Amino acid sequence: MRLRTPLTERLGIEVPIFQAGMAGFALPELAAAVSNAGGLGILGGHGLDVDDLRSAIAEVRRLTNRPFGVNLILPEDLRRPATEASLRGVADVQAALNPMRRTMGLTTQEGIPPAPAQNLNERIEVVLTERVPAFSIGLGNPEATLVERFHAAGTFVIAMATTKQDAVALADSGVDAIVAQGGEGGGHRSHFVKPATAAYGAVGTMVLVPEIVDSVKVPVIAAGGVVDGRSLVAALALGAQGALIGTRFLATRESAAVEVYKQALLAAESGETALTDVASGRYARVIRNAFSEGYGTGPVLPFGWQGGAVGDLFQGAREAGNAEFMALWAGQGTGRIVDLPGAGELVARIVREAQAVLAL
Ligand SMILES: Cc1cc2nc3c(=O)[nH]c(=O)nc-3n(C[C@H](O)[C@H](O)[C@H](O)COP(=O)(O)O)c2cc1C
Repeated sequence: MRLRTPLTERLGIEVPIFQAGMAGFALPELAAAVSNAGGLGILGGHGLDVDDLRSAIAEVRRLTNRPFGVNLILPEDLRRPATEASLRGVADVQAALNPMRRTMGLTTQEGIPPAPAQNLNERIEVVLTERVPAFSIGLGNPEATLVERFHAAGTFVIAMATTKQDAVALADSGVDAIVAQGGEGGGHRSHFVKPATAAYGAVGTMVLVPEIVDSVKVPVIAAGGVVDGRSLVAALALGAQGALIGTRFLATRESAAVEVYKQALLAAESGETALTDVASGRYARVIRNAFSEGYGTGPVLPFGWQGGAVGDLFQGAREAGNAEFMALWAGQGTGRIVDLPGAGELVARIVREAQAVLAL
């Protein structure tokens, strides 16, 4: 087995390490450090407005001349956002959040939260016109027409799935590579539509990767729980041609996570995460804290709106350096993280470890 795969050759990268485009955390410094080290750094584009996205892409280009990617999430709820009139349960949501706001010394809220930004199409156009080397997609199916437009711009398209069925649908849309996201991974589950329960589409990486490899013809990238050379080699042994790594890169010097978040990643054990929809309205894996445990079993608002409802609490927690009242998106791999290296150093270390395993 070799670390160079047909996929790394096609992308012009040295090693099969893909850094997840984590919204708010994978900014130009992180993406460029990974690309400079021979992997594929991916800018987290969700949450940036059109001008910030364009300048962030320019900044990545300033920091590296290697291939890189830009990530956007394309869930149904952002393409056809719920309207204010359809929001139910706002009073219950505010009632769940208000005791936490009081604990944090923040003003309590009663009304409808700020509406989500409705600029997804404009942001897609920015990624297209910037002709970036790779476009990475989470939580949605871009469909053939959009994939063809990216191909015409010379952009390689990578999309993420949590089930075999969604992977087949992505392959039918013509994407160039598919990320198989196992249930142990951090952040949002890459469902196109929110399922009825968190258990749906939470198949572990060990089972999901070979299942998707056997179901599609395009290269597969494994995600979920890869933190070192051993897990990278395991991903390749399962038939993947690379690994997309989120949580491990979140705990690096270049990641934009605040310091208390990084400390939480160092402290948490692998069993301390949970899948919950309380932080955003969509199921995501987080480190359990006073927020995730204290919210209760009441309703959550649709994706975009729930993020608006919790925004002031998370912002207050970030400013106060309080890790108990923010969303600590992280995968089970957090239990295996004990340091905060530079991202380039981390790529080199994972490669060394993988080569040592392969030489056995
Ligand atoms: C903090 C954090 C933020 C994330 N944000 C995004 C995102 O904006 N877009 C996306 O496609 N995936 C996002 N993900 C999911 C990753 O793409 C990936 O599937 C996951 O991190 C892999 O599992 P791991 O965390 O065990 O490495 C995020 C993950 C984390 C931990």
